[in-house]
Amino acid sequence: MEKQEAKGLGRRLVFVVYPFQGHINPMLELATILNSKGFSITIVHTEYNSPDHSKHPDFSFVSIPEGLSQTILSSGRDFATTFLAFNNNCEAPFQQYMEKLLEVENPQDRVACVVYDGLMHFAQVVADRVKLPGISLRTSAAATLLAFAVFPHPQEQGYISFQDSVCQAQVPELQTLMLKDLLVSMTEKPTTSLLEMRATVTNATKNASAIIVNTMHFLEEQTLKVVQKYFHAPIFTVGPFHKLAPAASTSLLEEDMSCISWLDKQEPKSVIYVSFGSVASMEEKELLEIAFGLANSEQPFLWVVRPGSVCGSEYVELLPKNFWESAGGRCCTVKWAPQKEVLAHDAVGGFWSHCGWNSILESVCEGVPMLCHPFFGDQGLGARYVCRVWKVGLELEGVLERGKIEKAIRTLMATTEGLEIIQRAKALKEKAELCLSEDGSSYNALNELAQHILSF
Ligand code: UDX
Repeated sequence: MEKQEAKGLGRRLVFVVYPFQGHINPMLELATILNSKGFSITIVHTEYNSPDHSKHPDFSFVSIPEGLSQTILSSGRDFATTFLAFNNNCEAPFQQYMEKLLEVENPQDRVACVVYDGLMHFAQVVADRVKLPGISLRTSAAATLLAFAVFPHPQEQGYISFQDSVCQAQVPELQTLMLKDLLVSMTEKPTTSLLEMRATVTNATKNASAIIVNTMHFLEEQTLKVVQKYFHAPIFTVGPFHKLAPAASTSLLEEDMSCISWLDKQEPKSVIYVSFGSVASMEEKELLEIAFGLANSEQPFLWVVRPGSVCGSEYVELLPKNFWESAGGRCCTVKWAPQKEVLAHDAVGGFWSHCGWNSILESVCEGVPMLCHPFFGDQGLGARYVCRVWKVGLELEGVLERGKIEKAIRTLMATTEGLEIIQRAKALKEKAELCLSEDGSSYNALNELAQHILSF
């Protein structure tokens, strides 16, 4: 992206990152976008999963201790408990940092506001205390703002009737994403930590001076209307960030570029790319079903097997000899891929994904149709959008089984049903391009966001 007019010159933005790949990527991309608008950037991050400072020489970085040992962080404690610990432990060091920063503030470099990942809600509390505006960044779909807000107690909050009436009367998109679909993104019996998490995140967002969502207006047009009624702060849909930001890599793992030369040798639109993101894990049994489903589909495939993502193994040691005999000539496995480049490659004809929101946006922008197998959290909601609202993918529901996988791949790559999905994916890509071009909704939202920040 070209350096735009320096509207934000003399104003600094303090970003607070949630330390996981699917959150680091969009936040650093947003920081890059706003830096190109002239704002100076400070990135506050935990010691855990620190981003690589050398890749962002224009930013200042500040590390705060999250106080959790590596053992606890990698022990598979539930997501909500780790989340609460981050918020409890980071608040005091962040407050100390902000007080010091404001004490020595240079009038030519004044802090305009704190932009925090919505899951780091302590940042809003600190922003309120030091009398700075806070902007909440949602790195997943706008619909998840609603899902967090109405659960844990949908019945008590009267949300069911609220949603039924709103859906039936005015919101066709939400008719498809009915309550049961929102529930997909929530565990059936939420733990106390999870309930606390949703409530605190929602309350912080209600206090925010603005909300930024990494989405495109046309993808969630009707949902956004409902979300805007619930949260009063202005919502800026400035996504997808990765298309507006230059391509500085924000990967925590090393990207294996050899898969690009492998893709160069494949036929156009022939390859299924398989990746389940940075967090999902599986048992050996699932690995084998995936492996033989892919092999039996007879389609070439590029498969990311993240180190440690299969219980009891480091990488692909559990794959048997007969798998390699059957698929070896048609497959490429890597530990971590340059995903955006892969999806933009002409050889890629489909993406089997866990439906993390970043993966969905990256796929939509390249017009790649998807096979969806959500693992947890917002991924269920993402899969519903892909398969039932935009209809650019097929859902692989239930337990993974090789026959089902083979059939789904063949349907996507070699049937009339698949062709229709491919055509819709192409049309969605064109809409995304319009949205990012001059006077498109994301382009305009970005300018409005910059103006909004300057009004603080
Ligand atoms: C997590 C949650 O699981 C997801 O549901 C939520 O929306 C964001 O946080 P993650 O599982 O990692 O994220 O998925 P996703 O949102 O898709 O983000 C993964 C990122 O890693 C993407 O930007 C993708 O391009 C990148 N990636 C993934 C690579 O660069 N290489 C890979 O091999 C795989």
